[in-house]
Amino acid sequence: MYGTFLAAFFTFHSISLASAQRRSSGCGQRIPDGFTPGGPSQTFTIQSESQAGGGTRQYIGHLPQHFSSQNDQPAPLILAFHGQTQPAWSMEQITGLSTPEFNKDAIVVQWLGDPEAPPSSEIDDRVFANELLDNLTSSLCVDESRIYAVGLSNGGGLTGLLACSPTLNRRIAAFAAVAAAYYKDTSLTEPLFEAGCNPNLSGRKVPMMEVHGLNDTVVAYDGDNSPSPNTIPLPEWINSWVERNDCLGTDPQLEKLDGGNITKSSWLCDGVQDLVLHYQINNFGHGWPSTAAQGEPFETLRLGPTTWNATTLILNWLSMWTL
Ligand SMILES: *[C@@H]1O[C@H](CO)[C@@H](O)[C@H](O)[C@H]1NC(C)=O
Ligand SMILES: *[C@@H]1O[C@H](CO)[C@@H](O)[C@H](O)[C@H]1NC(C)=O
Ligand SMILES: *[C@@H]1O[C@H](CO)[C@@H](O)[C@H](O)[C@H]1NC(C)=O
Ligand SMILES: *[C@@H]1O[C@H](CO)[C@@H](O)[C@H](O)[C@H]1NC(C)=O
Ligand SMILES: *[C@@H]1O[C@H](CO)[C@@H](O)[C@H](O)[C@H]1NC(C)=O
Repeated sequence: MYGTFLAAFFTFHSISLASAQRRSSGCGQRIPDGFTPGGPSQTFTIQSESQAGGGTRQYIGHLPQHFSSQNDQPAPLILAFHGQTQPAWSMEQITGLSTPEFNKDAIVVQWLGDPEAPPSSEIDDRVFANELLDNLTSSLCVDESRIYAVGLSNGGGLTGLLACSPTLNRRIAAFAAVAAAYYKDTSLTEPLFEAGCNPNLSGRKVPMMEVHGLNDTVVAYDGDNSPSPNTIPLPEWINSWVERNDCLGTDPQLEKLDGGNITKSSWLCDGVQDLVLHYQINNFGHGWPSTAAQGEPFETLRLGPTTWNATTLILNWLSMWTL
């Protein structure tokens, strides 16, 4: 079954078309202090311009091996959001997103939405995401047609929230979430995903990928986390994007992978295959699927390693989409 994954695997640069690139205003500037192409990731502190952006924030930034030392070749950019109580460095370790084994081409930036999830009138991570994208695109050479968002658990919820934002879904080409928590409006102090998801697509299709374990006891597949706050059942969330993207009337194409442990559902949306993609994983708990050991508490929560790497699947799928 690996054959399916490996055959489909290719790296970012292999699909970059010069004509499709949108060079950001950072191209040609001096690389900001702290960033080194292929070098270790660094923690950066950034002051939000606005109160809603949350004041002083931090993120981990990484430039890939293939990033041009002149800062003049546009690179894809991946925003990666980790889970609640999980440090950003551990997301980086678990996903391998900043290692050349998985990614030689995309800039990776990892941070967490405000863990207290205050009402967006106090701190709005959509505001900060926009500000951070402004900052990064005006200092690094980014291909603005290839900005992506990925997230785990609460970070997956934030990924979904950005997809719901009419501003961010016009800056971010595709969204991939793993074990994502889309809290029901009734579990929150304000509407976010049900009444609050108004992406105003007006023609734009939003590529959406979801990976979720059927044995997830933190963010249950069916959304029943009681006594913890309930989340939107995964089928309901996916169907909402199937509808928004005009995949109506199309049953998903179903495929069993990994000896039957994975059910892959792919929707054809207005002629585009895989625009909405869902991987349902048998015998998998709450976490990021990978072959490598992740240490505790991640190993116990996810019910052990898998025989495949979610990072490969996700990067492969993201590379299909440009704005
Ligand atoms: C990005 O943010 C940093 C930290 O706040 C700041 O020093 C830098 O000037 C900003 N760069 C741009 C291009 O806005
Ligand atoms: C929706 O998007 C369109 C096109 O970008 C814009 O003209 C329109 O004003 C937006 N509508 C709302 C309610 O934001
Ligand atoms: C399916 O998952 C279980 C639990 O992770 C594992 O023991 C089993 O080997 C997997 N099946 C295949 C065919 O990989
Ligand atoms: C996953 O849940 C199913 C059904 O509840 C159960 O039979 C199976 O043993 C669980 N798998 C693991 C790896 O815990
Ligand atoms: C998954 O990634 C690890 C590195 O973290 C690598 O050693 C392993 O070969 C990969 N497995 C597959 C099936 O791609």
